Amino acid sequence: MIDIWLEQRRDGVEQGEVEIRGFVDAVLAGTVAPAQIGAWLAFVMIRGMTPAETVLLTKAMTASGTTLSWPGIEGPFVDKHSTGGVGDKVSLVLAPLWASLGKRVPMLSGRGLGITGGTLDKLEAIPGYRTDLPQQQLHEVLAEVGCFISGQTPDIAPVDRILYATRNETGTVPSIPLITASILSKKLVAGLDSLILDVKAGSGAFMKTKAEAQALADSLVEVGNGAGCKTSAVITDMSQPLGVAVGNALEVEESIATLAGDGPADLVDLVVELSGMGDTARAQLQSGAALPVWHKMVRAQGGNPDAKLLGGGCQQVDFLACASGRVQACDAEGIGRAAFRLGAGRQRAADSVHHGVGLRVLAKVGSEVQAGQVLAELFHCGNGLDEARNLVEQAYRIG
Ligand code: URA
Repeated sequence: MIDIWLEQRRDGVEQGEVEIRGFVDAVLAGTVAPAQIGAWLAFVMIRGMTPAETVLLTKAMTASGTTLSWPGIEGPFVDKHSTGGVGDKVSLVLAPLWASLGKRVPMLSGRGLGITGGTLDKLEAIPGYRTDLPQQQLHEVLAEVGCFISGQTPDIAPVDRILYATRNETGTVPSIPLITASILSKKLVAGLDSLILDVKAGSGAFMKTKAEAQALADSLVEVGNGAGCKTSAVITDMSQPLGVAVGNALEVEESIATLAGDGPADLVDLVVELSGMGDTARAQLQSGAALPVWHKMVRAQGGNPDAKLLGGGCQQVDFLACASGRVQACDAEGIGRAAFRLGAGRQRAADSVHHGVGLRVLAKVGSEVQAGQVLAELFHCGNGLDEARNLVEQAYRIG
C-alpha cells in the first residue's frame, strides 16, 4: 500500500478516500509496520499533501474513534483551538462566556508539554475538577451548563496518537498537513458547527514567525471548511506572555478575575476577538454575567469553585527592575522557561506538574518602569528559583 502511495504521489496522482481511509484503518488495526508508517510520514513531510488529501486524512482520523453528538441539545455548537502559548488561558474564559451568550461549547482540550501550558493542567489546579468525564456525563453537563472543558479520552481519534508517536521519532512533527489533520481530527469529533483557531506566532509559540503561522492558519481553515465545519483563524502575538499570570493556579485566578470584569486588557481583547461577538462579548465580560456559568461548569465537573487556589506552601519572591526606562521585551519563551523551571510544566507526557508555582509578569512591553519596581512575582515551592530568576532577567529588556 505504501509503495502505491509513493508511486502515485511521485506521478502527481492525488490519493482518494479509499487509499487514505485504507491507510488509517490499517494503522489502527496495527497491520502497518512502524517503519512503514515512518516512511509514509517522511514522504508527506517532504512532498506535502494537497488540501483535498488532507481533508480525507482528517476525516479518516476523526472517524478512527468515538465521535460525539448532542441529541436533545440545541446548538450552535462552537469551539476554539489555540496552537499554544505562554499564559494562554483564553479557553477558561471563552467557554463560559460563549455559553452565557447562548452558544453550546463542547470543548475537548489537551495537556501542556514543554513551555506551553495546557488547559487541562490549569483546570486541575481546582480541587476535585474532573477532566475525564465519560460521554454520558459530558452530555449532561453540556445540557445543564451550556459548556464543558474536558480531556480527549483514549477512544478519541486514536490514530492521531499512533501517528504522533511516530512523528516524534521521525522528525516529522513540523509537517503542515500532518499538524492540520492532527489538530482538526481531535476537534471535529465533538460535532461542531464552527471552530475558530488562534494560531500564535512568536518566541513562546510553536510557530516562531508570522509567515509560518499564516501557512498553518491557511491550511487549518481550508481543511476545516473542507471537512464540513465552518472554520476561521486569527494569527496572534506570542512574543510576550498573554495577560499577567503564567502557571496553572495563577492562570485560573486570572481567568476568574476576567470573568468578573477585571481582566488584563490584552486577554480581554483576545477573548472578545475570538468570540466573534464584539461589543456584546465585551459588555458581558465587563458585567460579570458569565461568571455564574464558570461556577456552574466547575461544580458540574466535580470541582469546588470556592476553593483557595494559591498558597499551598509556595513562597513569593519579587523580581525588581535594575534600571528605569521602557520595557522593550518580556520574552515569552524566557518567561515560559522560567515557569517550567519552577515546575509549572512537563518535559514528557507522563510527568506531573506543580499547580501552585509560576509567575506574574506585572510589567509588559511598552510600560514605563522605575529602578527597584517589581517587574515580576515568582511563586516557587523550593525548586528552580535561581534558574527561573536568571531566565526572567534575560527575558526582560529595559531601554
Ligand atoms: N498539536 C496537535 O494536536 N498536533 C500537532 O501535530 C501539533 C500540535
